[in-house]
Amino acid sequence: MSSSCKYILAFLFLWLWSHCAQGDTVSFRPKALVAPIVKDPSTLQYYTNLSLKTHLRSERLAFHLGGSFLWIDCDNYVSSTYRPVRCRSAQCSAARSRACGSCFATPRPGCSNDTCGVSPYNPFIRTSTGGDLLEDVLAIRSTDGKTQGPQVTVPHFLFSCAPAFLTEGLTGSASGLAGFGRGKIGLPEQLAAKFSFRRKFAVCLSGSSTSPGIVFFGPGPYVLQPDKDVSQGLIYTPLLLNPVSTAGSYFLGEPSDEYFIGVKGINIVEKPVTGLNSTLLNIDSEGNGGTKISTVVPYTMLQTSIYKAVTSAFEREATGMGMKRVAGVKPFEVCFSSKGVPSTRVGPAVPTIDLLLDNGKFWSVFGANSMVATSNGALCLGFVDGGVSPRTSIVIGAHQIEDHLLEFDLAYYSLGFSSSLLFRQTTCANFKF
Ligand SMILES: *[C@@H]1O[C@H](CO)[C@@H](O)[C@H](O)[C@H]1NC(C)=O
Ligand SMILES: *[C@@H]1O[C@H](CO)[C@@H](O)[C@H](O)[C@H]1NC(C)=O
Ligand SMILES: *[C@@H]1O[C@H](CO)[C@@H](O)[C@H](O)[C@H]1NC(C)=O
Repeated sequence: MSSSCKYILAFLFLWLWSHCAQGDTVSFRPKALVAPIVKDPSTLQYYTNLSLKTHLRSERLAFHLGGSFLWIDCDNYVSSTYRPVRCRSAQCSAARSRACGSCFATPRPGCSNDTCGVSPYNPFIRTSTGGDLLEDVLAIRSTDGKTQGPQVTVPHFLFSCAPAFLTEGLTGSASGLAGFGRGKIGLPEQLAAKFSFRRKFAVCLSGSSTSPGIVFFGPGPYVLQPDKDVSQGLIYTPLLLNPVSTAGSYFLGEPSDEYFIGVKGINIVEKPVTGLNSTLLNIDSEGNGGTKISTVVPYTMLQTSIYKAVTSAFEREATGMGMKRVAGVKPFEVCFSSKGVPSTRVGPAVPTIDLLLDNGKFWSVFGANSMVATSNGALCLGFVDGGVSPRTSIVIGAHQIEDHLLEFDLAYYSLGFSSSLLFRQTTCANFKF
């Protein structure tokens, strides 16, 4: 090849590259993807921003780890790339749809004949309704695991329309909800299929409402400042399949899209909490009991008998360490004076709570994640009573997973979790966006 030819090729390449990269949206195969997760200080809900439609429009979406799919309020929906998903199509069976919708008004997004019907669910008000499945463009940031890369677009992304009333109770002005559940049309499975990367994603919630945390889609590294690859050194435990849906779905007999783990017992300062009912710790054939991880509840909820056993053991150990009990501060009952409680890198020095998992592994909850400091100077145990017969006995809430990396591997169906990132002198808010 002559050298002038090489120059022409190089020029052509640069021209193509610069043109394809226009508008900061490129088509290439990213290694992984990222989105911020923001904590709303008034509702303690988390939300993420994703862009949808043509032209792209940024939508604020409530973050629901166990949600089956993304849904938005389709009032005033304008997009040139929107298409309804037909009944009996492959996409419709991926959505496990059992309904076929029709509409007798002017056709528009959320209203067309022969469309695939699904059940969008709002876990904050425990309401589900009928909605139409549709496809449109989604855009999200790529990453090499270290910094944010160019935005990539996903054509034919599947999600659902919902009536405006379903956005009730969502964090300020969210137009819908982003579902990260294990099903085929959850965000993780759709994005992994689209970009052919490992079917895994990682969630890192920030405790701060001013600095967002992050969700990564695809394999690590997951690098937080200052240069810590937090995908390394995780502890792994199997994810468990709950055979019965735990959402307010219309259709019974479907497995749950939420993430369950096997908690076999609880230790406080390495001493077993006695009297835990093992029936409650297991998932029964009707889908009751067990332990799930939720970003919907701000604080871990324990079934009443488990709550009583844990709080009395905790109080015994705490008073044994010289902590002084003070009046409860709603929603918490077990509070202590913060005076004289030393601080450590992982929060106030209080009795450590260990969740016992399979094969002798455990998840340790230190002060930063077990306690909540209230405005009157009390330090409260950040667990709440979930009632006598809740559907799920232990719901691990957001406060307990903040500043931990949780990696959900959908191929191996396992959860990898880090210890508190505060030990490693970083936090979930330390990604270089
Ligand atoms: C999310 O989007 C809203 C507008 O829809 C914007 O005001 C906000 O700054 C965005 N937040 C992040 C973290 O990108
Ligand atoms: C749906 O089909 C019905 C009956 O054929 C028709 O009256 C209606 O206009 C159609 N609606 C749309 C949105 O196409
Ligand atoms: C354990 O929980 C199950 C399910 O709620 C209940 O039927 C059973 O009576 C409980 N056992 C004890 C010893 O409390």
